[in-house]
Amino acid sequence: MTDTTTSALDNLASEDRTFPPSPEFAAQANVDASIYAEADADRVAFWGERAKRLTWAEPFEQVLDWSDAPFAKWFVGGKLNVAVNCLDRHVEAGLGDRVAYHFEGEPDGDRSSVTYRELTERVCQAANVLEGLGVQAGDRVAIYMPMILETVVAMLACARIGAPHTVVFGGFSADALATRILDCDARVVLTADGGWRKGAEVPLKPVVDEALERCPDVRTTVVVKRTGSDVAMVDGRDLWWHDTVDVAERTHEAQAFDAEHPLYVMYTSGTTGKPKGILHTSAGYLLGTSWTQWEVFDLKPETDVYWTAADIGWVTGHSYVVYGPLANATTSVIYEGAPDAPHKGRWWEIVERYGVSILYCAPTAIRTFMKWGADIPAKYDLSSLRIIGSVGEPINPEAYVWYREHIGSGRTPVVDTWWQTETGSLMISPLPGVTAGKPGAAMKALPGIGADVVDDAGNSVPDGSGGYLVLTEPWPSMLRTIWGDPERYRETYWSRFPGKYFAGDGAKKDADGDLWLLGRVDDVMNVAGHRLSTTEIESALVANPKVAEAAVVGASDETTGQAVVAFVILRGEAGDGGPEVATELREWVAKQIGKIARPRQILVVAELPKTRSGKIMRRLLRDVAENRPVGDVTTLADTTVMDTIRGGMATAA
Ligand code: WTA
Repeated sequence: MTDTTTSALDNLASEDRTFPPSPEFAAQANVDASIYAEADADRVAFWGERAKRLTWAEPFEQVLDWSDAPFAKWFVGGKLNVAVNCLDRHVEAGLGDRVAYHFEGEPDGDRSSVTYRELTERVCQAANVLEGLGVQAGDRVAIYMPMILETVVAMLACARIGAPHTVVFGGFSADALATRILDCDARVVLTADGGWRKGAEVPLKPVVDEALERCPDVRTTVVVKRTGSDVAMVDGRDLWWHDTVDVAERTHEAQAFDAEHPLYVMYTSGTTGKPKGILHTSAGYLLGTSWTQWEVFDLKPETDVYWTAADIGWVTGHSYVVYGPLANATTSVIYEGAPDAPHKGRWWEIVERYGVSILYCAPTAIRTFMKWGADIPAKYDLSSLRIIGSVGEPINPEAYVWYREHIGSGRTPVVDTWWQTETGSLMISPLPGVTAGKPGAAMKALPGIGADVVDDAGNSVPDGSGGYLVLTEPWPSMLRTIWGDPERYRETYWSRFPGKYFAGDGAKKDADGDLWLLGRVDDVMNVAGHRLSTTEIESALVANPKVAEAAVVGASDETTGQAVVAFVILRGEAGDGGPEVATELREWVAKQIGKIARPRQILVVAELPKTRSGKIMRRLLRDVAENRPVGDVTTLADTTVMDTIRGGMATAA
């Protein structure tokens, strides 16, 4: 356990408030406590039963084939089309006029709503265009777009024709985009001229142009006109969305694909510099996302207005803005911009306007709202909210209680949901009609999911102890592999504790056996709910000609959970760098990876603390970055290094 996790454990141990569901809520909830017993009695049969919520073109013969573990096959022999499950079947069931999305653009007054019928037609149009461009089932398509409806259309059009998409978050740099396009060998890129963020344009097409200099195999891009700014269009390569998709045929015959047909690749940071392409497949993923949205958010698709305030470019957006909600015929909200554009009440204005009844967001947002003050949400009518959720990082009890009090009017259940890009859907969470929530605890593995906390040797720890979080059983929406690297899949997730999935998180079982998540135990940081790898940022820094060596740590940060702090040793010829060098290197990282990776602080040091085997002791650097007394230094090759670093910082301050 790291020092940070130990102190987190101490804080949490003193938390003893609980919030049981009200009898009225429990009485109307979608699931009751018997669901756990059903799942425990026969986990595989439980999932087989749940799979009836999907519409199958051909039924499956076997629920789970785990004979080639850790490579799972769910719903063997079954066939379906993901887009048909998300769209056509609802229209056929008479729900064509239901709103699928209320879209709220950032510019004031820019809003529109799209029904299931309209969305189906738009997806058919895009599917026809992709097929016309020669995209076939199995071909990868890259998507680099803002938070607009066309992004959903693009993803579902890919799903409809069986072409796995890889959505790259619009905040990533040209380099990061190129690396991802090359890794999955995408030949077509769907993008936009740009998007809006805090009143300014975030340019996208120029970034694509720069990325494509390194990707000669990309033959076509299709560009949505969103901001209307001037962009260069390459003849023979770049097409406008409005000239192609908007004028295409509105019907499209969808083909059924195997349950295990690849649906998408989502890149996420690992402990090495190279991002991992997490592969999700069709039926199990769609089941996991739709079932958990219904179960954990107590979804009533006829009446709820559901808002996952997350970017579509991350897994939360994939699972709970797009696939889960659409499969359930949900009415959702999509908001393009920043929470303070043009004013700090923007989210609450949106909740009031659409009567949002379920809100799902990240602790970093909640802490920001806390900082801005409770008087801002108090100006709006938030009485439509009946469930509020949290995801992405541990939610500290204070933020949980504030959220429940000031956003949930002191009455809504709060669901703290733990999961990962790799798990595809929610894994550990309270059930709002069943569980007495504890602020800060994700509580219990959901029905059908096996989770445990183990020690270094892989033994289950007793209640009241901490250790590593593992998942003990395969589950339908699990990642199937790392794109192009099955060995890395086995090695990263299934080798640390044989037979168990190692999540990379520290966790604790409290005296009642409930689970508390404590953050990463590896070299992965969690900044504002975004996963960043220390190694990836270190590699970016040393790629700068001025830098000789770099060490990056995630230091705790009041708002973003963690923040990136970098320690760098400059090359001799760069001199002592001067104050500009920190600014220059921060921008350098933003350019190399993306703005989300830009260090909060860069400290120029003469040496880095290393063990005798040469491993950088990040724990000590974290002490410095968090302004704590430096911990045990006895394993350092040179024990005076930390004094030098501390001394250097004192002079700098
Ligand atoms: C962290 C986001 C504590 C965790 C869906 C995990 C959490 C990583 C929680 C996955 C939570 C996510 N409590 N920590 N409720 N939810 N995490 O892949 O460290 O972007 O491993 O998926 O976020 O981040 P990812």
